[in-house]
Amino acid sequence: MHDPSLQRLLTRAAASPHIRDLRQLWSHNPNRHRQFIYETDALYLDLSKNWVDADVIEQLQRLADSCRLKEAIDKLFNGEVVNSTEQSAAGHTTLRDPNHPNYHRNLKAMCDLADRIERGDIKTAFGKPVKQWVNVGIGGSYLGPRLVVEALTELQSESRIPVHFTASVDDSLINQLFNTIDIEHCLFCISSKSFGTVETLMNAGAIERKLKSRSGYRPQPGQSSLMAITAHTDKARRLGIPDDMILNFDDSIGGRFSLWSAIGFPIVMAAGQTAFKQLLEGAHQMDVHYKQTPWSRNLPVMMALMSVWYRNYMQLSAYACLPYDARLRCLPQWLQQLMMESTGKMHSNRGDVIQYPTAPWVFGDHGQLSQHAFFQAFHQGLDALPLDFIGVVDDSPNQQFLLYNMLAQGAALMQGKEEDNTMAGCPGNKPSTTLLMKRMDARAIGELLAMYEHMVYTQSVIWDINCFDQPGVELGKSLARDIQDCVANDSLNQLNLDPSTKALINQVNPKTKE
Ligand code: F6P
Repeated sequence: MHDPSLQRLLTRAAASPHIRDLRQLWSHNPNRHRQFIYETDALYLDLSKNWVDADVIEQLQRLADSCRLKEAIDKLFNGEVVNSTEQSAAGHTTLRDPNHPNYHRNLKAMCDLADRIERGDIKTAFGKPVKQWVNVGIGGSYLGPRLVVEALTELQSESRIPVHFTASVDDSLINQLFNTIDIEHCLFCISSKSFGTVETLMNAGAIERKLKSRSGYRPQPGQSSLMAITAHTDKARRLGIPDDMILNFDDSIGGRFSLWSAIGFPIVMAAGQTAFKQLLEGAHQMDVHYKQTPWSRNLPVMMALMSVWYRNYMQLSAYACLPYDARLRCLPQWLQQLMMESTGKMHSNRGDVIQYPTAPWVFGDHGQLSQHAFFQAFHQGLDALPLDFIGVVDDSPNQQFLLYNMLAQGAALMQGKEEDNTMAGCPGNKPSTTLLMKRMDARAIGELLAMYEHMVYTQSVIWDINCFDQPGVELGKSLARDIQDCVANDSLNQLNLDPSTKALINQVNPKTKE
């Protein structure tokens, strides 16, 4: 956000009434549905229903230049320091670049292990073939793999091993899992970059106890019911996981950018090695697009510029992601972590407190379900917010029904409707973006997810923040540890906590509750 004169121009543009009036914008330029279209091999992005015109878009692109976006993109791909807090590079794009040694090292380790499991060289600790798989992980060690597994499940052809996910430590969820799976045929994978996340380790402990309580449980070389994926192999070893059951990845891969690394192993198990390679191919294609395409045709850059426009100049603080396809139902959650953990920051790269808002509040759900839940507020609520409708082009009658529903929402929001009974009328003039996936396959998913990653990186460059750290998450985690310790030692009074929280702890603590 460096150039003050550009910022003044954009602020002035945002204040002019015509830019917030879709009817005027369309009457000045009836060609918007051709002009504001951005395309790649698998994606078709329509920005024409947004509160922008060609002048604003040009100024936003100049803003990107003034923030030295080109240099920042080169730094990302050249392996230079982009994570200023940890003084490290961000390695996720190397994992999908076939010209990079990381790509081959990562794929070889994953495919070798998948082959051994599929051939039956590895059995569970009950001496049974692996027929099911459970991923134990949270945050980035859960959302990305789950999203892609769900998206590609219909396309599974190879190695159809059903994959289950367990993330939270809720008793109800872990019990439900144990009731659903065939424990003796199941391989449990502890996925954690740090191998220090309490939830994941507690679930790992519960699983180990369950396994040990069953007769016939005999871990030995070639027989294991546990495996691990981590950047900290030593910690996994200490938990008793054999070396040949540990997949490693590099610390420079951020958790929420890690689905391309060994963390994506559930995708290999569920959808097969070919699909995983195609996923990487699609992501790499997006990397090349991001690096080489002028801003005026660059999808991730345009998406980022739109979000900066709405957040910083239109002062809109929320953003909704609405996929109209059950296969993408996890996209809003994945994007929520990607955007909010990456850009929910108040310090610039130099450590000063910044003077402008960053991450919007991201929410969303399957579009069709949301239509019958919270869309009313989009149509008649006084606030506007940027909405992304995401559809997958598909000829089947049900998918067509979904797509027409999605397109109808975008049209209704923009056009509105006058009614004799004014209370039944809708004002219209609500902006939205439509993103079509031209097909649903692994390459297209790779392109889509890499597009969002680069959108977030672009936002962070414009906002001059580090999108690869997450110091804020630590505060709640360490306080939870302190509370647990103090409750165990009956020393809650010594903890520097507000009276409301102390009283609530006493309400739930078995020793003190009435
Ligand atoms: O929520 C904080 C966080 O550190 C995320 O950034 C990360 O994706 C998640 O926890 C899980 O971390 P790990 O993979 O180290 O268990």
